[in-house]
Amino acid sequence: MRIIVLDNDTDFEGWRKAARRLALNDVKPAEITWTVRSDDELSSASCVNELPDTPQARFNVSAKFVELAKAAILHRSDERFALLYRLLWRLRSRHDLLSATDDPDIAEVHAMARAVYVDIDRMHAHLRFREIGRERTAHYVAWFEPEHHIVELAAPFFAGRFADMPWSILTPDVCAHWDGHAISITPGVAKSEVPTEDRLEEAWRRHDNGRFNPARLKVMEMPQAYWRNLPEDSIIKPLIEDAMRMTSGPFIARKAAEPQKRQDTPMPRKQVQGKQVQGRQAHDTIAALREEAADCRACPLWKDATQTVFGEGPQSATLMLVGEQPGDKEDLAGHPFVGPAGQMLDRALQEAGIDRRKVYVTNAVKHFKFVPRGKIRLHQKPSTPEIRACRQWYERELATIKPDLVMALGATAAQSVLGKITPINKNRGHLIDHDGTKVLVTVHPSYLLRLPDEKAKALEYQRFIDDLKIAAHQLRRSVDAA
Ligand code: URA
Repeated sequence: MRIIVLDNDTDFEGWRKAARRLALNDVKPAEITWTVRSDDELSSASCVNELPDTPQARFNVSAKFVELAKAAILHRSDERFALLYRLLWRLRSRHDLLSATDDPDIAEVHAMARAVYVDIDRMHAHLRFREIGRERTAHYVAWFEPEHHIVELAAPFFAGRFADMPWSILTPDVCAHWDGHAISITPGVAKSEVPTEDRLEEAWRRHDNGRFNPARLKVMEMPQAYWRNLPEDSIIKPLIEDAMRMTSGPFIARKAAEPQKRQDTPMPRKQVQGKQVQGRQAHDTIAALREEAADCRACPLWKDATQTVFGEGPQSATLMLVGEQPGDKEDLAGHPFVGPAGQMLDRALQEAGIDRRKVYVTNAVKHFKFVPRGKIRLHQKPSTPEIRACRQWYERELATIKPDLVMALGATAAQSVLGKITPINKNRGHLIDHDGTKVLVTVHPSYLLRLPDEKAKALEYQRFIDDLKIAAHQLRRSVDAA
């Protein structure tokens, strides 16, 4: 018996070199045990080196087999190396073997390759980065437990998509890291080593007054094994159990796939992408709305965005700020106004004497709209149909928060809040009464960031603060009048 030790679980080149030499030396599949070097093994004492090399001998296999083998070797089955060698051995005498779909070895290798591709697709679809650190030190981290050894093959997708963010994908097998230039691979880690300081997770844990919506899991679509890859993993089971107690158990899987419905006062229903959803509810909570919006398909923007970025802030907020749409950073972090425009907004709010922690901050459109340009995701202005499709969420946020004042930042926000195109410069600085809601409009902080001239920038920034001060003054008047 010959023992062939490969360097690691995805060592296709090592397998190929060994398999070639073994086949040329007529070593039968049954005479070989394939294994992978363990971490504490210093040398890969593979006895393939004892076989004579035969550089002149030719051994050709089709590109199709190589492609199939490269995928199948990533399968977690211990049998994969032996299966591939058996196929290689048989291909020498049966060149059409790959098209023999009723052959058990062929069926098995195809099943393995398929499972690997499915796992890669799932990783691309379900992996969620969390922001660790802020601003300059921000790093994005994701935990994922792949079924197969797919991390190295799947990682370039994330390098293309999140090119300007430093990120790490941590898995029990290996970890992939992107520094903006190259991907590096390091050994795997245990889940307990994953940084836990995570605002996203904290927000999840804190939403104790919102009812858990099992639809978030899409249990009909997402295998239970994949729940562990969701940020809310550690609270899923108790939440499901709670939800099961509150609903009749047998219905839960069916109900889970539907938008969350409540039995409050019947309200006019709106048509969204062919489904009926409840209109504005007197008993909505922001947490429940956020759950529902996580699955919003009312316009196509959800397809490319990482996640729905819903509004945030206390339910008791008297001021509601409405921006345009999440940007690149917000899309990754899942929180509104955390990127450069958010930092400028924070500074201006502070200078105007407004505490952001007491403000409800949201966007007119809740998915990031962009076009990829090389490594960058270029922000695109939302269209009128997209603004309209998303307005239902703003309306329900408004009905839930019931702020004394809404401030629209920029033209898109003004269009959503006021229901029509509203020029900012003509309307800024004075209070607008819109269907019983007091509204102020001003410029968007990104506009200030884009101004090339420093003097103009300082001037416009001051005007922006002045507008925020009008809001602060108005809020004081509302408190005095109450
Ligand atoms: N710009 C916005 O309008 N909203 C955000 O959340 C970030 C940038």
